[in-house]
Amino acid sequence: MAEQQGSSTVGTHLEAMIAKLRELNAVRSERVADAFRAVPRHVFAPNNPLAEVYSPRDPVITKRDANGVAISSVSAPEIQAFMLEQASIEPGMRVLEIGSGGFNAALASELVGESGHVTSIDIDDEVTARAAAMLKSAGFDHNVDVVCADATSWLPDDGSWDRIIVTVGAWDIPPLWTERLAANGRLVVPLRLRGITRSLALIPDNGHLAATSAEVCGFVQMQGRDAHEERLFLLQGKDIGLRFDDDNTPADMTALDGVLATERAVEWTDVTTRAGESFDSLELYLAARLPHFCLLTVAPGAGEQLVGHDEHRFRLAHVAGDSFAYLVSRRRADGLFAFGASAFGSNARVAAAQMVDQIEAWNALRPGKVDPAITVWPRPDSASELPEGHVIHKHHRNVVLSWT
Ligand SMILES: C[S@@+](CC[C@H](N)C(=O)[O-])C[C@H]1O[C@@H](n2cnc3c(N)ncnc32)[C@H](O)[C@@H]1O
Repeated sequence: MAEQQGSSTVGTHLEAMIAKLRELNAVRSERVADAFRAVPRHVFAPNNPLAEVYSPRDPVITKRDANGVAISSVSAPEIQAFMLEQASIEPGMRVLEIGSGGFNAALASELVGESGHVTSIDIDDEVTARAAAMLKSAGFDHNVDVVCADATSWLPDDGSWDRIIVTVGAWDIPPLWTERLAANGRLVVPLRLRGITRSLALIPDNGHLAATSAEVCGFVQMQGRDAHEERLFLLQGKDIGLRFDDDNTPADMTALDGVLATERAVEWTDVTTRAGESFDSLELYLAARLPHFCLLTVAPGAGEQLVGHDEHRFRLAHVAGDSFAYLVSRRRADGLFAFGASAFGSNARVAAAQMVDQIEAWNALRPGKVDPAITVWPRPDSASELPEGHVIHKHHRNVVLSWT
């Protein structure tokens, strides 16, 4: 076992991880690759096997709540890498990290160098104590402070930050974060839009924020003042449900009572994807375009009635009156996968057709124009200021997704 922790073994895991992070386009610069080389990740996850600690796409879970839900972790290297690339941290900068695990703050410490400074803030004093101790034992306490507070309502009274990196899933952007962002600063935040999370790199632009990039990611959820619960409507015991995350829940969800006892309808399109090809942009497109967009959740082993034997089911769904539809695909004879919509309810064909229309409209944007421009505006808003697009209302912000 001692041999497993030897520096050559660590070095082998580390270089394999960095090579994979480059292949995934998560590490894009030498500076970020070098930061991963300079910070010993295993020191921040001391009780885990090296293969897990250096696994490029896996977080190390460090704390769960009473229901077993992860509430704190050292995030997956892939996500840490692309968020640091999104943040574009330069030597001498002041960086605020929201959500502490120690390791990511140490990476930021490397990137800001001796003349810069990192503050890491977490709502949980067990997490801050752990992060501070590990930063100290890894030798990164000289330019990193760790503070315990709810970062949605309080930040150290310490001037502004050049970069704010939020490493916990946010549903909204509190005013405080933009008030304390330097005029030419950058806020990197995993923001939930109708249940779909994207890590946005946001820059201030004449009273609003404009996203310069959006990356697919998943995070533990924000706690504290701005915690936001999704609304889950169960359709069959606890096995099958629909989750709504914003203000687009239909007024009468009881209209769907017994909906799974109706006959399933399926509408197919000629819109195809190759095996392994990403269609992430379809998620945001459907989320914005279908008024009652939601996510289908199915317990493992349940939901046989939701798919035919040759079909795959996805979580993207929407409700239309007393019916709901969700995205499916099936392999065609030419090897491509065709998208379709499967639906239940007395108006199942209508619900399916509405989804199919949007899949076809998304396809008409391919290739090239599938990613929306994303802007974030303060509320209360003057509606006339908002650009053309689909508006998602939060408490503090309006998020506008525009396809041109
Ligand atoms: C994924 S972990 C942070 C990972 C870390 N940055 C790393 O080094 O990989 C998310 C953390 O956010 C914290 N958190 C949740 N809500 C918070 C809030 N309102 N303010 C500050 N921290 C919060 C949790 O306690 C949790 O430790």
